[in-house]
Amino acid sequence: MGLRKILTDKEPALHKTCKPVVSFDSKLHKLLDDMRETLIDSNGVGLAAPQVGIQRRVFIMDTGDGLKECINPKILERRGEQECVEGCLSSPGEYGLIRRPAVVKLQAQNRDGKFFIITVEGLAAECADHENDHMDGILFKSKVERMLAPDEIGN
Ligand code: CO
Repeated sequence: MGLRKILTDKEPALHKTCKPVVSFDSKLHKLLDDMRETLIDSNGVGLAAPQVGIQRRVFIMDTGDGLKECINPKILERRGEQECVEGCLSSPGEYGLIRRPAVVKLQAQNRDGKFFIITVEGLAAECADHENDHMDGILFKSKVERMLAPDEIGN
């Protein structure tokens, strides 16, 4: 186990398309364990592998109902819309208003390569869409309606 350094959005690594995972081996498991520890340490709800410098299609999320490890994720369906106040661990202190799907149906593989499908809504749908964007080097700041001023964030 170990904490990984979270890169900021100024790093080129965060703007690149990530490669699929092909080996569901101990190296992947170590990455997932480290990402979990890093996510907990940073009080975030989601973390993508490129944020810790690994250009692979891996993200984890925990929006309050347990950790989900998503490898080679693919969004099968987006439904509805919600407006969110959103941030990113790679953009510390910055928040913006953004529209995300209200419901997301996602296919991914678990750490052993087994396929699963989940349907999530609300914060989990926002998070899944945000983390899935990281797989293609897309950052929330490129999609926001507008960034919020510090006095609008309210904490
Ligand atoms: Co992010």
